Amino acid sequence: MADFRFTAVSTNPMQNTLRFITLISFVLLNVNGVFAQVYARNGLVVSSSAIASEVGRDILKRGGNAVDASVATAFALAVTHPTAGNIGGGGFLVFMDSSGTATSIDFREKAPLKASPTMFLNEEGELNKGKNLYGSESTVNHIGALSVGVPGTVAGLYLAHQKYGSLPWSDLVQPAIDLAEKGFPLNWSLFQAAAYFEANSPIPFLRDYFKNDQGEQLEFGELWKQPELAKTLKEIRDYGRDGFYKGFVAKEIVRFMKENGGIITLEDLDRYTAVERKPIKGSFKGYDIYSMPPPSSGGVALIEMLNIMENAHLDSVEFNSAAYFHLIAETMRRAYADRAEYLGDPDFNLTMPLDKLTSKAYALSRFNSIDLTQASISDSSKFGQMYDGSHTTHFSVADAFGNVVSLTYTLEHSYGSGMGSSALGFLFNNEMGDFNPQPGSTNRDGQIGTDPNLIQPEKRMLSSMCPTIVAKDGRAFLVIGSPGGRTIINTVFQTVLCVLAYDMPVDKAIEATKIHHQWLPDRMYYEEALLSPDTRLVLEEMHHTLVPVKVLGQLMGIQIDADNKIMMGASDSSSPDGGAVGY
Ligand code: GLY
Repeated sequence: MADFRFTAVSTNPMQNTLRFITLISFVLLNVNGVFAQVYARNGLVVSSSAIASEVGRDILKRGGNAVDASVATAFALAVTHPTAGNIGGGGFLVFMDSSGTATSIDFREKAPLKASPTMFLNEEGELNKGKNLYGSESTVNHIGALSVGVPGTVAGLYLAHQKYGSLPWSDLVQPAIDLAEKGFPLNWSLFQAAAYFEANSPIPFLRDYFKNDQGEQLEFGELWKQPELAKTLKEIRDYGRDGFYKGFVAKEIVRFMKENGGIITLEDLDRYTAVERKPIKGSFKGYDIYSMPPPSSGGVALIEMLNIMENAHLDSVEFNSAAYFHLIAETMRRAYADRAEYLGDPDFNLTMPLDKLTSKAYALSRFNSIDLTQASISDSSKFGQMYDGSHTTHFSVADAFGNVVSLTYTLEHSYGSGMGSSALGFLFNNEMGDFNPQPGSTNRDGQIGTDPNLIQPEKRMLSSMCPTIVAKDGRAFLVIGSPGGRTIINTVFQTVLCVLAYDMPVDKAIEATKIHHQWLPDRMYYEEALLSPDTRLVLEEMHHTLVPVKVLGQLMGIQIDADNKIMMGASDSSSPDGGAVGY
């Protein structure tokens, strides 16, 4: 039992029978369990908050489908995982139904009507710096009420429910209201954030965010209640989309923005719409890949990278070897260069060459430009991208009917702008920082100033979020995604590669060593505990510049053996409070 690994059905019938018996016993033993890795037959939710995963699982148990469970999980995460779970931010949902039809909902934030390409520049045309929510230095496009994009989450969840949900909307919002009203024990990571913000944050809302009924700072394990957030959620429960974009919530958002130098108006909120979009589709070794199209760069870059890798003879490239990391770093370098050059909001960039970027022919030309013995040089005379820290959150859902959802949403930085109205109880994003802030200005550190992602009124800022579904013969096989800013695409890419090319079960693939290269700065970031000194030496001899980081990604995945009706969910061990919950 201990060393059992979930794999696709084997060609050996005896092994198959043994595996099936093992799986069934594991399912029976772990019914309703909350683990980092869980097997289930009827439904699974894997998120960065085990409490929110339980909320989603309960909706599935009540007969809800994967979209219902996703709506409930997303609202619950806004209560239990405010680092990135939100109603004040935005994101993307990719859905595949039991017939194998995939679609996506884009609920990315938009620039307000009064926004302009130079709104963050001073009179000299420079980008000033200031103190961010952590009390450390940051460029102004990530600070304060001006950094807030028009939120999209409530509109996106509402649209997903209207089109694909089955249970009443109010039933899906209510569990989050209960959590906000009754409270839940403050976990260690939230307690640490509370202590940090109280001591260091220049933002009053954040300093007061984690308080008990007596107005004192919460202790670890004490119940955290959020009555103002519960009130806001009740408006959303009772009036749906309008409960956020109209009425008292909208008026209070606008009042708060005015008071704090923001520019979001009632008109911005009223005009905000989520959009259903055709997912980006690719293929890899006989599997179909569905992921998020622009305004996310995630799907395009993921499919370009998988296409490039299809040209490599991976059977002779040992996993975790220097040859492997060199090959994937060179692949990343090329896809991220294309990302920077071409991608932005599709409603404003009508001629993006998406077909070319995701074609097998283009991938072959990109593959042929890779020198297998040494690193290329990223052309910094063009433009680049900054390395982002970890934030955002992803969850994966599978139901008993054969539907799956892959959803990633974000406030941009952890805790977003750190700003919020005390009457509403939720945090606003600082997603305006995902636009190119200084037209024409590009530098080696990674700031870019290219046209496709310059600020324009009602434009959506380019994202790296990469909620993905892999299917085999029209049935969902893998549901996967991750937080991590620009690292997201690469951690999803490597995880998919580990499962499809290196035959790893999803839990192993999630934990496998990851690297990150984003063209510029020209660096290979690696998980410091996982890359051996020998491998590092070989990579340095190939002229890669290596930079250690603690961890890359916080992946939440589900792998499905449709023939045997078994699902396996895995929550990344880097997530302190995450959990896979099934039944
Ligand atoms: N805010 C992170 C992203 O959208 O990629």
